[in-house]
Amino acid sequence: MIAEVVPFERIESPLVIDEAFELESGELLPRLEIAFETWGSLNAAGDNAVYICHALTGDAHAGSSGSAGSVRPGWWEGLIGSGRALDPENHYIVCANLLGSCYGTTGPASIDPRTEDLYAMTFPQVTTRDMIRVHRLLLDALGVTRLELVIGGSLGGMQVWQWLVDEPDYIANAVPIAGSLQGSPWVIALNQVARQAIYNDPAWQLGRYNGRGPSSGLALARMIAMISYRSDRQFWQRFGRDLAEPGTGELPEPGANFQVESYLDHQGQKLVERFDARSYVYLTRAMDLHDVARGSASLDEALARIRSRVMAIGIDSDVLYYPHEMRAAVERLIGLRKAASYREIQSPYGHDAFLVEYDQLNAMVRDFLEGGRS
Ligand code: COA
Repeated sequence: MIAEVVPFERIESPLVIDEAFELESGELLPRLEIAFETWGSLNAAGDNAVYICHALTGDAHAGSSGSAGSVRPGWWEGLIGSGRALDPENHYIVCANLLGSCYGTTGPASIDPRTEDLYAMTFPQVTTRDMIRVHRLLLDALGVTRLELVIGGSLGGMQVWQWLVDEPDYIANAVPIAGSLQGSPWVIALNQVARQAIYNDPAWQLGRYNGRGPSSGLALARMIAMISYRSDRQFWQRFGRDLAEPGTGELPEPGANFQVESYLDHQGQKLVERFDARSYVYLTRAMDLHDVARGSASLDEALARIRSRVMAIGIDSDVLYYPHEMRAAVERLIGLRKAASYREIQSPYGHDAFLVEYDQLNAMVRDFLEGGRS
């Protein structure tokens, strides 16, 4: 039975579904909580909705002034708002925290109602397919009959591809950004090193901790990831070979840090203050397992199901989800006679450009949506 959706005051008030949810693995979650936020109003037909898929450490708070009532800027603030590509005047915008994450949706830090104990590593592994099925339940509960647009970057982009293959009749337009059809061996390798950093922290305790837990392991995982989120060009421009505390001699003082080292330390510490290591483990594994062809005879058979307009966006300097992956996906769709196009963000920011280059993103998404109306 689906509980009544109450008007949202705080993100901490999730949609609660008190019936068992079967995961792709066949395992059951007896109860689901889905934390979400909305902007704008749903039209009478229920088909002006935009669904935003967030990335690895993101949350439902994609923009400010949504149903959570917070004026704090959201992580996609530059894309959501009056006059921007995702305008609450025209769209009903929804973003929900991912299954397995730690911002209010059921995950490894939740209590298992069967044991009344922390799930920790007894939480079943979730997949991008599970994530979108959970979000479909939410959209059904909100009265959305069809998505005008589904959009997201990175792990969010992976979810967009999964939406396209699994829910072909539910989506008019889709924009996957810097996110692939299948977790690449490159992404799996980086994720594995990050997880090992967490497992090797003595505070990991197989995920059975209270409070912060393996903070040095999670910080190291984030530092590794941050390198893959940026680019050689940006690090030169931003830090060069500068020292954090310049010395007087030819050689730096022993123990002196370069600016780039100090930056990575800072980013590691920042994540520890806001994210749970268990969710980091589960969500990176979901990225590894992501494969839209799973359950189909081939990748082409899976992609042949797509019925939406697709604009895939790559980033010229991305060294995590290389732009050639996005281009190749679009070429494959065109080969299957699908309505697909490719655009590329030009930026020194690397993978993180999807969180920064708003002028380019707004123009691309606006053009794409207008093209669909003509
Ligand atoms: N030493 C120490 N700290 C430094 C530094 C240095 N040499 N140079 C900058 N910093 C700190 C700044 O003080 C600032 O700290 P604060 O955030 O605590 O105020 C921070 O680094 C600014 O850098 P950054 O966060 O990288 O800002 P940016 O403008 O380069 O990037 C975003 C903008 C939106 C991409 C970034 O803020 C963000 O959200 N990153 C998330 C990365 C992420 O999760 N990507 C998703 C990939 S799936």
